[in-house]
Amino acid sequence: MKERGQRAIAECRLIARFTEERGRITRRFLTPPVKDVHAHLRARMEALGMRVRVDAAGNLRGMWTPEGGDGKRLMLGSHIDTVPDAGAFDGVLGVTLALEWVEIARQIGLRRPIEVIAFSEEEGVRYGVPFLGSRAVAGVFDRAMLAFEDADGVTMEQAIRGFGLDPGELGDAAVDPAEVLGFVEMHIEQGPVLEAEDLQLAVVTAIAGQSRLGLRFTGRANHAGTTPMRLRRDALTAAAEWITAVESTVKEANENDDPELVATVGKVEVKPNAGNVIPGEVSVSLDVRHTSNRSRTWWVNEFIERARAIAGGRGVELEWVLRSGEPAVDMDRSLGARLDIAVEKAGFPLKHMPSGAGHDAMVLAARVPAAMLFLRSPGGISHHPDEAVSEEDVEAALRVGEKFLEQIGAEVG
Ligand code: GLV
Ligand code: MN
Ligand code: MN
Repeated sequence: MKERGQRAIAECRLIARFTEERGRITRRFLTPPVKDVHAHLRARMEALGMRVRVDAAGNLRGMWTPEGGDGKRLMLGSHIDTVPDAGAFDGVLGVTLALEWVEIARQIGLRRPIEVIAFSEEEGVRYGVPFLGSRAVAGVFDRAMLAFEDADGVTMEQAIRGFGLDPGELGDAAVDPAEVLGFVEMHIEQGPVLEAEDLQLAVVTAIAGQSRLGLRFTGRANHAGTTPMRLRRDALTAAAEWITAVESTVKEANENDDPELVATVGKVEVKPNAGNVIPGEVSVSLDVRHTSNRSRTWWVNEFIERARAIAGGRGVELEWVLRSGEPAVDMDRSLGARLDIAVEKAGFPLKHMPSGAGHDAMVLAARVPAAMLFLRSPGGISHHPDEAVSEEDVEAALRVGEKFLEQIGAEVG
């Protein structure tokens, strides 16, 4: 397992070289470096005897069908897009580990097909909507999204066509649940819990729901030297007041009876963005997460109301759009139980935990049984170039893989 573990990590580091930006790992949906990732993974999949295709959502899919193998297939994988200035392991590790599981399946003579999917998009960076790849595989890709534009005015439809794919074929990306045993996603924890408890792995029980919104504050751009303070309609000060109000509201809720709520404004665009011009228009993102769907929607409404009140008090207009809302989901109990057994058989303590981060598994869960295995995140760091994973923990995930595959190999159907 040592060599396999080293290879799974080395492959992530290699794939990290395929990036949109020199010196930083940034790989958004269907941008040119994705072609390089596909070429690299395709070669590896083909060397493993897998049949490879790219579906219309840009997911790279490798099917391994052992001789005489039948029954429902196991699906494995994670995403290959990244946030800007990312680490090397978020998503990609779930793909390189999946390929090592196929190696193990070959070695133990598993008689069940495995499909490995490198999902094209999970982060929501390019179009403000996450899970584009897994939505297509789950059969819930909303075609209205094809008209969405990226920061350069390129529509999603143009991006798909530009990659050599046909949006008319998006429906063919969906899996038939009758043919699938389940989907297992391996992923770094992206938080500090496992490290704090001195544990290597966890089986995920549920994934927090998330809402993503865009808000636009529109005031009036004007001269910074001649416009008296009292006559300004500054869109940026309105947005800034609201951003800090969101933060203090969440902290207060956390201290009282709602420790689960988190909310983030991670993107701000100022127009015209010049030092001597009062900001006329500010667009911001809002990301709200909660394990309770009711609470999440309640808070989203609350934050919008706060924005309306703050903007109104400053003579600034407010528009907002809900870009996506993903409900909290439980992982499949039966598939999770097989992972539990594999963890214990591999000799590791069994730890269950929920995920605060979103994952492709939460979208797939609507279509097929879905389960997740977390690997400890050193320093609890993710969405950052310092993101890491230890060789020891990757080896542990491979040992679990062996036990899991042995188990499903012994099952019928
Ligand atoms: C995906 O990384 C997320 O934002 O949770
Ligand atoms: Mn991520
Ligand atoms: Mn991820």
